[in-house]
Amino acid sequence: MSKKQKCEEDNTVTHSNMASEPIPSVAADAVLVQSVEMPADSVKVQGYDFNQGVDYRKILQSYLTSGFQATNFGLAIDEINKMLDKKAEPRKGDEDESTEKHDPRERRDTNCTIFLGYTSNLISSGLRGTLRFLAQHNLVDCLVSTAGGIEEDFIKCLANTYLGDFHLSGRDLRSKGINRIGNLLVPNDNYCKFEDWINPILDQMLDEQNTQGVNWTPSKMIARLGKEIGNPDSVYYWAYKNNIPVFSPGLTDGSIGDMIYFHSYKNPGLKLDIAEDIRLINSLAVRAAHTGMIMIIVGGGLVKHHICNANLMRNGADYSVFINTSQEFDGSDSGARPDEAISWGKIKCSARPVKLYCEATLVFPLIVAETFAQRVSLPHIVKSKEDSPDKQHQEIIK
Ligand SMILES: NC(=O)c1ccc[n+]([C@@H]2O[C@H](COP(=O)([O-])OP(=O)(O)OC[C@H]3O[C@@H](n4cnc5c(N)ncnc54)[C@H](O)[C@@H]3O)[C@@H](O)[C@H]2O)c1
Repeated sequence: MSKKQKCEEDNTVTHSNMASEPIPSVAADAVLVQSVEMPADSVKVQGYDFNQGVDYRKILQSYLTSGFQATNFGLAIDEINKMLDKKAEPRKGDEDESTEKHDPRERRDTNCTIFLGYTSNLISSGLRGTLRFLAQHNLVDCLVSTAGGIEEDFIKCLANTYLGDFHLSGRDLRSKGINRIGNLLVPNDNYCKFEDWINPILDQMLDEQNTQGVNWTPSKMIARLGKEIGNPDSVYYWAYKNNIPVFSPGLTDGSIGDMIYFHSYKNPGLKLDIAEDIRLINSLAVRAAHTGMIMIIVGGGLVKHHICNANLMRNGADYSVFINTSQEFDGSDSGARPDEAISWGKIKCSARPVKLYCEATLVFPLIVAETFAQRVSLPHIVKSKEDSPDKQHQEIIK
C-alpha cells in the first residue's frame, strides 16, 4: 500500500468513527456557550426594506438600526436634534449673564450655544452651500475654519471652482496654471481676482487702524470681508448679517496670508490681533456656562482643537458630534475620539458624544436635512410644491 492510499484509508476510518461519537465537550462548551437574556430595551438590527418603495427620509431613518457607521450617522442626527430641542427652550439664568459681549458685534444668547467648525476643503467643495444655509438662517452661534475655509468662500463669489479628477497630473496642471484640491480644480486666475478684490480692503483696514485705532483681529477681518462681498452665496456675508462670529486663528495659512504678505511690501503696517480673538471665543464658551454648549466639528486639525479648547473653559461641552475620517492610532488630535476630549475636560463626563467616521461631503448635507433644515420654514418651497411639475402635468391633461 502506498503512503497516499494508507493515508486516505486512515481518514475514512476516522471520518466514519467521528459520526458515531459524541461531540467533544470542550468544543461544545466553547461554541455553544449559553447567553444571558438580552436587556428588554435592546435594539434589533434592521435595515431598510425597499418593498416600502424609495422613501429617502425613511431610508435615512433606518440607518440608526443598521449598524456600523450607519448607526453613528443616526446617532449624530439624534444628538444634533437634542441640541436643537435644548436651544429652542427659553434661556435659563439670564440674571447671571456676564456683561462681556462679543466685539464688535453683539449676538443674542440662546439656551444653547452652537459651535460649528469645518476644514478648508469643505468650503472648496459643494458643502459650502450647506454651510451657507446654516449661517443664512442663523442656526449656529459661532463658526471656526482655517484660512482656506475663509478665502475660498470669497473667491467663489469672484470666479468658479470646477470638478476635476483626483488623478490629473500635477505637472500638466501646473503648466496650465490650474490648482487641484482633491478632485476639484481652481484656476490660478481666481487668486489674481481675489488679490484685486482684497487689496483695496486691506488698504482701508490699514487706514482705519492708523486713523481710528481699529484693532483688527481675524474675526473682525472676516466680518469686514463678509460685509464687503455683499453676496448672498457667501457663508460669511450671512455670518456678518446675522452677527455670527467667525474665528480663524491661522488666518494667514492660505491665500489670505499671501495677500497680506504682498500687501506688507506695498503698504506695510497692518496688524491682526489673535489675542483678542482667543478671549472672545473662550468668553463665548464661558458665558454659556449655565446653559448648554454644543459642538459640531466637520473634519479635524485646528478647527477641532480650537472649538474643543474653548469648551475646556467651561469644563466641557454638553453635546458633541465629530465627523471625520481620521483614526486615533497615531495619537493625532484629528483622530482622537470624543473620549479623549472627556479626559481633558473638553466634553462633559455626562455627555453622550458621537463620532461619525465618514467623508463629510457624503453625510453632512443628509445630517442637516434631518436636523436643522427640518426646523426652518421656507415659504417659497411650499409655493413651488403647489406649482410642481406633477401638478402642472395634471392641469395639462385635464
Ligand atoms: N482647500 C484647502 O484644503 C486649503 C486651501 C488653502 C489653505 N489650506 C490650509 O491648509 C491647512 C490645513 O487644512 P485644514 O486644517 O482645514 O484641514 P486638513 O485638510 O489638514 O484636514 C484635517 C483633518 O480633517 C479631516 N478631514 C478633512 N477633510 C475631510 C472630509 N472631507 N471628510 C471628513 N474628514 C475630513 C481629516 O481627518 C484630516 O486629517 C490650513 O491651515 C488651511 O488654511 C487649505
